[in-house]
Amino acid sequence: MFQTLSPVPPDPLLGVTEAFRADPSSSKVDLGVGVYRDASGQTPVMAAVRAAEQKLLAKQSTKGYVGQAGNRQFAAALETLALGAGHPALVAKRVATLQAPGGTGALRLGAELLALSGYRGKVLVSDPTWANHIPLMGGAGLQTAPYPYYDRSTGALLVARMLAALDAAEPGTVVLLHGSCHNPTGADLAESDWRAVADVMAQRRLVPFIDIAYQGLGRGLDQDAHGMRLLAERLPELVVAVSCSKNFGLYRERVGALTLIAENSAAATTSMGHLQSLARRNYSMPPDHGAAIVAGIFADETLKAQWLAELTAMRERVMGLRRDLAAALRREFGGPRFDFVAGQNGMFSVLGLSPEAVQKLRNEHHVYTAPDSRVNIAGLTGGDIDAVAKAVRLAVG
Ligand code: LMR
Repeated sequence: MFQTLSPVPPDPLLGVTEAFRADPSSSKVDLGVGVYRDASGQTPVMAAVRAAEQKLLAKQSTKGYVGQAGNRQFAAALETLALGAGHPALVAKRVATLQAPGGTGALRLGAELLALSGYRGKVLVSDPTWANHIPLMGGAGLQTAPYPYYDRSTGALLVARMLAALDAAEPGTVVLLHGSCHNPTGADLAESDWRAVADVMAQRRLVPFIDIAYQGLGRGLDQDAHGMRLLAERLPELVVAVSCSKNFGLYRERVGALTLIAENSAAATTSMGHLQSLARRNYSMPPDHGAAIVAGIFADETLKAQWLAELTAMRERVMGLRRDLAAALRREFGGPRFDFVAGQNGMFSVLGLSPEAVQKLRNEHHVYTAPDSRVNIAGLTGGDIDAVAKAVRLAVG
């Protein structure tokens, strides 16, 4: 049976890690998959996470099942993190949250719920978008179509064209939006842009599907949630896929949640039932450990403060790396071509290099970027910035 299967090309992002691991060079630099590294090149376990984990190990008395919906303290904490305490949708009990295996698991659950609800339209996705969005939606039986978002040649947002595309969409169309730290571009909507997006989405009765995987790594926890909270106020329905991989550094533990805001509390309860049943059919129940750690951090004011301080330090470090990389590229190129890197948000920027330059960077200079020249700024140690900037100049030729 299996001999009928044809070989699969490497994943565009995870394949970069494989290629990097296979490179024997001692000067290699991995700017592929989005993981945060410190100045020594390590992806640390956050101290608040370690402390919550130790507490958990000391007090956990069973490994019995938690249930399809996952940890309820975790779900409540993430709802507040996403929407802010006392959000009207929370007060009206229009919110349902299911713990999911990572942000990707949450996206998939949301996509499956759309398919189950009979959604037959296309899901609009930003051009460009995260490499896994389109295959993931397709896997759930949904089609996608792009909306203009970013000009690769200038590094500018295409807000007017985006708004025009939304304005032309059929009522009920689902629009996938990046809550903050747009992946791959790092170019986020300004607050006034979010207001314009909310206006047109409310007018056209569009349904936002927000992917928020980097909350706290852009401008701040609340600032990064601004657009999402605005949409939650203005629109009756909203789907949110949350990841705790990056802002808690819990990558391999697969911690995320799907939060859904429905028109009323009865629809929220029914949707929750369907989400639980989708989970049951897929993987039965989410893994417990990482979510229990996050719940433990939120239950302890000291740990929460420690986590916030660590997250702030990570964010500020990434912002500093952005400024340093932009300055180094300015020195190498003798001009402002890459200045946009300094002002963008979160882990990624797209350098806008040709596929040949990306190959040259990898093969001749051992600098690994995603195929579209997305670089993980948070993967730089700081000591490698000048070498990376020089490699970019040599690769561009
Ligand atoms: C990325 O875009 O690099 C991260 O979201 C990791 C992943 O799963 O692709």
